[in-house]
Amino acid sequence: MGQNQGYFITFEGGEGSGKSTQVKLLADHLRGQGRDVVLTREPGGTPEAEKIRDLLVRNDGGDWSPLEECLLLFAARVHHIRTLIKPALEAGKIIISDRFTDSTRAYQGYGLGMSLKKIEALNNDCLDGFKPDLTFLLDIDVKDGLARSTRRLADEQSSEDRYENLDIGFHEKLRAGFLDMAGREPLRFRVIDADNPVDEIADKIKVTLAERLWAA
Ligand code: TMP
Repeated sequence: MGQNQGYFITFEGGEGSGKSTQVKLLADHLRGQGRDVVLTREPGGTPEAEKIRDLLVRNDGGDWSPLEECLLLFAARVHHIRTLIKPALEAGKIIISDRFTDSTRAYQGYGLGMSLKKIEALNNDCLDGFKPDLTFLLDIDVKDGLARSTRRLADEQSSEDRYENLDIGFHEKLRAGFLDMAGREPLRFRVIDADNPVDEIADKIKVTLAERLWAA
């Protein structure tokens, strides 16, 4: 790979899939190779977008319809892309984001029933279809994932449990939605079984990068 080529890599998955751990491990690994890495997340990633995150993901964040959630998410995302992601890509950096538009498709679309067509229209209008070079989907059994994320939220005394609190049927729809998207775009997605040791998952991620990005 040319060291000056920027790449945009995203991590997706349901609650408790271990994304945040893997995102950090990958960033450390790439930095260890001397690459310039920007680690970010959605909703959020910029001070303005983090304010929108607070409105959305805290349990007392407000009574938003799926469409309203979508509009807030896209407002945050457009800001995130304009002020952080695009400039970093143009500077030849590797941007790793913990969630991106696939989460809107999964949560607000497949999960909460917002029209996927409307989400695509927003995506095309607001982002000109901008999408990641590579997306890791960490797939985990819904009950196992929820148990993990409930433990983490309690440990961190976090109030970011708006979606964790929805019923198991919602989380099953999310999981099926993510897998459906991955099946439709096999070149962009790499599905990883997240019910494996952390190191094994990290190794699979490194191998995929070597095969799909560096070798391209
Ligand atoms: P996190 O817990 O992985 O940091 O994600 C925050 C929550 O926001 C998570 O429950 C998923 C939700 N979310 C959406 O509902 N739609 C989106 O587009 C994004 C990016 C996140």
